[in-house]
This record gives sequence, C-alpha cells and structure tokens, in this order.
Amino acid sequence: MLIGISGAMQEEIQFLSESMKISETKTIGMREFYIGELFGKDVVLVFSRYGKVAAASTVTTLIEVFKVDLVVFTGVAGGAEKTLNIGDIVIADKLVQHDMDASALPGFRKFEIPLLGIEAFEVPEKIITLAKQSALHYISENMKADVSKSDLEEFNITTPNVVVGTVASGDIFVADSQKVQSLRNEIQNLMCIEMEGAAVAQVCYEHNVDFIVFRVISDKADEEATINFPKFKKNAASHFTSGIIKRFIKSV
Ligand code: ADE
Repeated sequence: MLIGISGAMQEEIQFLSESMKISETKTIGMREFYIGELFGKDVVLVFSRYGKVAAASTVTTLIEVFKVDLVVFTGVAGGAEKTLNIGDIVIADKLVQHDMDASALPGFRKFEIPLLGIEAFEVPEKIITLAKQSALHYISENMKADVSKSDLEEFNITTPNVVVGTVASGDIFVADSQKVQSLRNEIQNLMCIEMEGAAVAQVCYEHNVDFIVFRVISDKADEEATINFPKFKKNAASHFTSGIIKRFIKSV
C-alpha cells in the first residue's frame, strides 16, 4: 500500500520528512513530492499550499502520478462547535464545501456539488476509528514531550478533546462569529472550518481512493482568529498533526 500524506503546513511536512527515509524528491506543479519510507510504510509526502484548488491539484498528482491508495490530509482549523478549544482535534466523518452554492439555478441545493449530487463527502468508518485511536494515543503519550510547556499554558491546553464530525471547507479565512453561527445553522454537526479538506474529499471520491482528514483547532474563526491562528500555527500545531500522522501510519 502506498500512502499519500499532505498538509497545509510547511512545518509539519518538515517534521515528517525528518523522520522519513527519502529515496527520491520530484517537483511537479510547483510542489516538492518526497518519496520514501516512514515507519516501514511506503509514503509520498507533500506540502499542499493553501486553499481548495491547491489541495485538489496536489491530491490529484498524488493519485494520478504516484498512484497512492490512501490520502492523509491535516492542518489547522477554526473551531465552530462551541465547546471546542485551541489544541482540540477534529476527525472528519463528513466534509462540505461551504462556499459552493449553485442554488440560484433550478434543481440545486445549497452546498451540493453540481453533477455529483452530493453535499457532504463521507469518510469510511474503519479509517475514522484508526485516526481517533492515533489522536488519543498521541495526546496521552507524546504530546507533553513534543509541545512546549509555555505553548500549552498560553493556549490553556491540558488534555485536548478528540471529536468526530463535519468539517466545512471554503476559500475564505473565517474571522467572523456571525459567519460561524450561520454555517452552524446550515451544516449539521459542524465541528470546524478550514480551507482544503472537502476539496481533498471530492478528488478522492471521484477517484475512489480512501482518505482521512483531521485538524487541530488553532482559533475559533471569530474576531480573534487572526491573532490566535498564527501564534498556535507557528509553534504548536505541527507537533500535533505530525505526531498523530506518525501514530496513524504505524497502525494503518
Ligand atoms: N484554518 C485555521 N483557522 C481557520 C479559519 N478561521 N478559517 C479558515 N481556515 C482556517
């Protein structure tokens, strides 16, 4: 099995590449693809860049050129569920493109992907279970050694929650609590908002390739998001996501 790993954070790709036995690097479409072995598994690792198009193009290359059998995608997200805090982990079971709206045309529902007739892409149950176990292991065994005490204190992180639910993606950095409220009203079981996951999900769905998306909460997509997002992303976030990916790779 060949696993494609991609994320929207350069730092996490850096951390993972340091644990990898890299046999080859290829540059395609302005992306560096690292080919090699991670914990005995064959992987291709790549930084996706930001947004739906960037993620879709990266994952298409992973599937079409490298022929990966499974795509793992991570990064940070703005929390939408009220009880979520910075450092909590969201594992997607459904992914919606919240900026897709062809409903002005007859026959289309809001968020429906035209011609696919789908509003939410679903992740297979067995992959969700593995991802959840990996996140729980990371938090109980590695997190405190990886993430500095001052970061844990600054963001008030003790034991992060791990939740499974809907992830909404769009080409907008949301820093508006009213927008979060309206998305919560429209999207069932909405946990977090980011800019890539549902695009990755669409490409994987269209190519019939398994995938998992998980996210660490960096902000609450509210008026403070532009302050919390860069602070958490800079120091702590990549430890969380690369640590969980390492666990996941070992178990898959
Ligand atoms: N990724 C992290 N925080 C985000 C936010 N508030 N909006 C969109 N993507 C994000």
